[in-house]
Amino acid sequence: MSDKKAFRAEILHCLGDPGEHADATQVEYFADGLLIVEDGHVAGLGDAEALLPGLADDIELIDQRGNLICPGFIDCHVHFSQVDIIASYGEQLLDWLNRYAYPAEQRFSDAQHADEVANFFTDELLRNGTTTALVFPTVHEESVDAIFSAASKRNMRLLSGKILMDQHCPEAVRDDAESAYSVSRRLLEKWHGKGRLGYALTPRFAVTSSEAQLAAVGKLAAEFPDVHIHTHLAENHEEVDLIAKQFPWSRSYLDVYDHFGLVRERSVFAHCLHLDDKDRERMANSGSAIAFCPTSNLFLGSGLFNLRSARESGIRVGLATDVGGGTSLNMLRTMSEAYKVLHLESQSLPGIRALYLATLGAAEALYMDDKIGNFATGKEADFVVLNYAGAQITTRRLAKAEDIAEKLFALIMLGDDRNISATHVMGQKV
Ligand code: GUN
Ligand code: ZN
Repeated sequence: MSDKKAFRAEILHCLGDPGEHADATQVEYFADGLLIVEDGHVAGLGDAEALLPGLADDIELIDQRGNLICPGFIDCHVHFSQVDIIASYGEQLLDWLNRYAYPAEQRFSDAQHADEVANFFTDELLRNGTTTALVFPTVHEESVDAIFSAASKRNMRLLSGKILMDQHCPEAVRDDAESAYSVSRRLLEKWHGKGRLGYALTPRFAVTSSEAQLAAVGKLAAEFPDVHIHTHLAENHEEVDLIAKQFPWSRSYLDVYDHFGLVRERSVFAHCLHLDDKDRERMANSGSAIAFCPTSNLFLGSGLFNLRSARESGIRVGLATDVGGGTSLNMLRTMSEAYKVLHLESQSLPGIRALYLATLGAAEALYMDDKIGNFATGKEADFVVLNYAGAQITTRRLAKAEDIAEKLFALIMLGDDRNISATHVMGQKV
């Protein structure tokens, strides 16, 4: 017997990128909507009054009126191993890595520690309405098993893969070119395509990989064309200068990855603050994607991401928290900072486009838009139930909002985990 449910609420999702002018043809909104879920997949969506009379007798009706249902949020770049150093004071990227990130990551050779943090992290994602993430673990095999096991237990769609780093970092978080290949391959064969999980080849960034290691990653990438590739790119000026010295033959930072066959569909590059037009053209024509990390870029003093030129160049872009460089796992908080970053650059970010970047746009960036990102029939029913209450000033402001655009924007500016009433993974409340 199939499991059928219908959720009645205000419902909002994107059909495409609404752009800087909030193109209404890319959005679907039901003031009194019904989302029908059968065996974990979307089976229908529309106005409640039109759909209710035709519902089968055995369907469970869940009344969420007064709340807003949106697709589950997708975090395109986050480090689960950095939850204990979020909000650490005073450094820019390279010093921050040495002072905070590497010492914290060292502890993940301990499987028990890795499991405890992975369970906390995945619970926290779900509590914040995030149903899918592309996750950096650490260099340790234990950390990869921990994050995939935690996601699997919760039936989450999640991507991860062992960090590869064989130079310019402490011994305790260092591997080598050979084990980068053999251990990645073993983990990939163990986890890729298991349930809702996928593997991502994860060289940390070109600073911490030798050419031999990058070549090993390129070999794996060629052998497994359907896995993701996940790394950092052009985040910080000092980092970009180091890359130019380390790879004097390269035209640009992106060119280093390209040289080793790592720029392609399903490659996701976090940050991308310091690109030129040639880089953008190459990213667009290769089908690779950018993870836009506004809270991290502000917190680490890295710079302001240019969303307009990325999108005008035709590059896929998804939103990301980048915790622990980022300051919140909550995608509403992240959308709010994205708005402010773009505002500083005289670019617009309507609420609905912010939602796009955290749902369908992110799914497109990860090449998962055939499965998640909106409520098209047949997609996996991952969704979040948002409430218009939360903090006192949020409740007060939202009560004054006159339409969905105003409500959504104020919810993004003011909202936090108090505004997440429930998260559903394949239709099941978690
Ligand atoms: N570049 C290389 N490693 C990291 C990391 O852990 N965080 C951020 N924000 N950038 C990086
Ligand atoms: Zn990062």
